[in-house]
Amino acid sequence: MAAAADGFEGDDVSVAKKLMMPAMAVAPQVWENDPAAALARLRHEFGEHGGVNMSIEASATFTVVEPETMRRVFTGELGPDRDYFIYSRHFNPTVLNLGRQLAALEGTEAAYCTASGMSAISSVLLQLCSSGGHVVASATLYGGTHALLTHFLPRTCNITTTFVDITDHEAVKNATVQGRTQVLFFESIANPTLTVADIPELSKLAHNKGIKVVVDNTFSPMVLSPAKLGADVVVHSISKFISGGADVIAGAVCGPASLVNSMMDLHQGALMLLGPTMNAKVAFELSERIPHLSLRMKEHSRRAMEYATRMKKLGIRVVYPGLEDHPQHELLKTMANNDYGFGGLLCVDMESEEKANRLMHHLQNSSQFGLIAVSLGYYDTLMSCSGSSTNSELNTDEKALAGISPGLVRMSIGYTGTLEQKWNQFEKAISRMRESGCNVM
Ligand SMILES: Cc1ncc(COP(=O)(O)O)c(C=O)c1O
Repeated sequence: MAAAADGFEGDDVSVAKKLMMPAMAVAPQVWENDPAAALARLRHEFGEHGGVNMSIEASATFTVVEPETMRRVFTGELGPDRDYFIYSRHFNPTVLNLGRQLAALEGTEAAYCTASGMSAISSVLLQLCSSGGHVVASATLYGGTHALLTHFLPRTCNITTTFVDITDHEAVKNATVQGRTQVLFFESIANPTLTVADIPELSKLAHNKGIKVVVDNTFSPMVLSPAKLGADVVVHSISKFISGGADVIAGAVCGPASLVNSMMDLHQGALMLLGPTMNAKVAFELSERIPHLSLRMKEHSRRAMEYATRMKKLGIRVVYPGLEDHPQHELLKTMANNDYGFGGLLCVDMESEEKANRLMHHLQNSSQFGLIAVSLGYYDTLMSCSGSSTNSELNTDEKALAGISPGLVRMSIGYTGTLEQKWNQFEKAISRMRESGCNVM
């Protein structure tokens, strides 16, 4: 029996099903300063019949040979590390394999994949905060996260949040409440303003006060590795760049094995008890896309950099962290992993919603440069006016605090077609705007 040397004396035949797996979705501890290298070091999961791709464990429930084993699985004595599974809301082998990939991507000990980015965020916050607890969060966040912190958590759990300008570290410090603040939450590159957070400094500041740092890295997988820069937990909306297909809603929590284990606890675990687990078939599909994430991110970033530079030359007000005039350009250079550029998102500030809508109309309907749609990380360019869409949950004052102007158009730059073909389409749309008497500057 494979487990005998490990002190396990059970006689259950399923023990030897596989080589021993590291506990949970634990990633290799060697970090090569490149998430792609870390991913390549992961054990390759083969299919049941020697297929190059892993098999899908599509079972909701798992059998044991002896009834006594069931009790031992429920007490936690036997678990996924010995290939013992109970029920797929708890752990599922296929979902765990994707978790291993996410942990390698983010350089964390463990990761767990969820049904959406929002469920990853809400589960982590509910795990780390208790009733009466307090969060300090960036004022510039995805609208759903902002609403969760502003409205839902205070009403349902008595967890309150103070929002701050995340670039103002004095304000962050002053917002913390001794004995109450449990989490500092921000996005590595903020939705939609593309403000870049100083992850090492913010992590130091929070840790000095015993506060956990949770970073949403949805905008910059591969580009930034927040856990390697000091964050405790990294959350993702996998629905975006990691999926790349705009066809799946999914999320992940990446962090220490102790946190992920606590979130799966049968009595106190937010993931176990709220149940936002990922379906194994979805996990399989996503795991097939991770190997080319690095290539995709490089091309998203290369094109975003090129278009931002050209837009600026045309006199358009463009926000892109790769441009030298971006307030955190130098900071991002100090934090970013090599060769992934500055991310695939840029913003064009058209000042009014009416002008923003006209621009998007021409970009989609006159020249096929992109699609008017929320979300990001798709292979085609997606565009939305953030104030009236993804961040519409914020009221006028909150939008002003977050730096979201009414005419801000967020563009997630795709990589289909050739770069020049797409740029010609952009120029054509600008010409149409001008012909209709609309000044784009
Ligand atoms: C930065 C960020 N975090 C989290 C989410 C929520 O993710 P999901 O839609 O997968 O629940 C989004 C969605 O747009 C987002 O942009």
